[in-house]
Amino acid sequence: MTSIDLQPELHTEVERRRNFAIISHPDAGKTTLTEKLLLYGGAIHEAGSVKARRAQRKATSDWMAMEQQRGISITSTVLQFEYENCQINLLDTPGHQDFSEDTYRTLAAADNAVMLIDAAKGLEPQTRKLFEVCKMRQLPIFTFVNKLDRPGREPLELLDEIEQELGLQTYAVNWPIGMGDRFKGVFDRHQQQIHLYSRVLHGSREAVDTVVDMGDPKIEELLEQDLYYQLKDDLELLEGIGPELDRDSVHQGKMTPVFFGSAMTNFGVELFLNSFLEYALKPGSRNSTIGEIAPTYPEFTGFVFKLQANMDPKHRDRVAFVRVCTGKFEKDMTVNHARTGKTIRLSRPQKLFAQDRESIDRAFPGDVIGLNNPGVFAIGDTIYTGQKIEYEGIPCFSPELFATLRNPNPSKFKQFHKGVSEIREEGAVQIMYSADESKRDPILAAVGQLQFEVVQFRLQQEYGVETLLDLLPYTVARWVANGWEALDKVGRLFNTVTVKDNWGRPVLLFRNEWNCQQLQEDHPELELTAIAPVV
Ligand code: G4P
Repeated sequence: MTSIDLQPELHTEVERRRNFAIISHPDAGKTTLTEKLLLYGGAIHEAGSVKARRAQRKATSDWMAMEQQRGISITSTVLQFEYENCQINLLDTPGHQDFSEDTYRTLAAADNAVMLIDAAKGLEPQTRKLFEVCKMRQLPIFTFVNKLDRPGREPLELLDEIEQELGLQTYAVNWPIGMGDRFKGVFDRHQQQIHLYSRVLHGSREAVDTVVDMGDPKIEELLEQDLYYQLKDDLELLEGIGPELDRDSVHQGKMTPVFFGSAMTNFGVELFLNSFLEYALKPGSRNSTIGEIAPTYPEFTGFVFKLQANMDPKHRDRVAFVRVCTGKFEKDMTVNHARTGKTIRLSRPQKLFAQDRESIDRAFPGDVIGLNNPGVFAIGDTIYTGQKIEYEGIPCFSPELFATLRNPNPSKFKQFHKGVSEIREEGAVQIMYSADESKRDPILAAVGQLQFEVVQFRLQQEYGVETLLDLLPYTVARWVANGWEALDKVGRLFNTVTVKDNWGRPVLLFRNEWNCQQLQEDHPELELTAIAPVV
């Protein structure tokens, strides 16, 4: 088939694809919402299956033993489902507090983000951090305020918090009526209709909303008078203060459409999904070495955003997760690997669904495929057919935890170094070395404590090396963008140590933000950045 024949199919497939990741703080309800979205998408038939699958998986895999012990999900997965003739890709991110850089990297492969907030808690630390990454990437953000069936904070107060703290304009697409025991439903501002809430026990099946027009005479009685008047007041206020929902502002990540609901009881999930499909960004153009490339560019291109080792210890395999950016991917395709110039045949591509892998024959822009990775791929690598192109790499984000990793057993020297270098290649953790050549132990630099545990666990399981970890008292890392030369010029620095990153670039570590700011004030000539320059 020539590339010209491909075009109509490619256009149709791009048009119907939507890809997103959920950003939230643990316990806000991400697993629950994911499940309900899959339920509406017909990908599962009964809520609870995702958790059940997880339990099943745990029982069969010893790599997952660690997840089981901790009761958490370490690995990100990609869930694909169809809804209203759209192909939706949900890039799942680890939900645990000890989240890792994978979460950040997954956002590099996402076109949209759904910010999930617990109505009682409002913005929480992990959501704020992840928001910063979305902002950097200018991702459209859709907000779902969850758990309205429980007492929570005033909706207006929540909108205000998002506006003030995140600098995002809000537009409430629907508006809650009551809350907790008196939660009556939501008002859909676009359709001018009330969706009445009915308690569905655990919401294991799709709920069918009862919908009433705003002009319906029964409404006062259905809502209870005070809630009805409260709704009218709120709506008047909203009309008065807020701008209209503006598609361009949403696409530029400046305005967030806000939805209220209760994922547990399925309420508001369908309203959200419909509106999301209408407003979400389709797979778009990306910057590359040959300029901006549209997803309908007829050659296949994609980039690796995550590597996962040992998902199934029986096979000792590694999977490279590739975001398809342009063209059509086909099984057994031969592609070029931009970094090494090698030609690779992609013979066992996988589609990933909650880690149950099935083989795929084709994929389109916005999709994610899993490729077996016999040590070829690194994070940020581009693969392509046709003219050589390379996408911008994926930046490293400032780690917040640091520890020296030691191998107390000299006879394991070789295994230790092999393990550390392979784990580093995969990007499971950032590995730095002291600028002082006499200190040779690697320094692990992570976003979450869990990354340390994964490294130690794997070194022991896969390389047979027991290691010791000495935590270091730093919490802030800054790359010196103008390099060693700039550092040499300023001479001796106080309250910081200098280390080298994976690529030998200088990084300064500080005990706290204050020390970092102080140094920056004393030495404005040093260009300090929290996000590593892309290699
Ligand atoms: P996470 O993945 O973001 O960490 O959250 P998860 O979905 O696991 O939900 C955390 C807890 O919040 C769960 O309760 C879940 O049932 C509850 N939850 C989620 N959505 C809603 C909602 O809309 N309303 C209410 N009231 N609760 C909600 P749990 O007791 O920790 O677990 P479980 O025993 O219910 O599974």
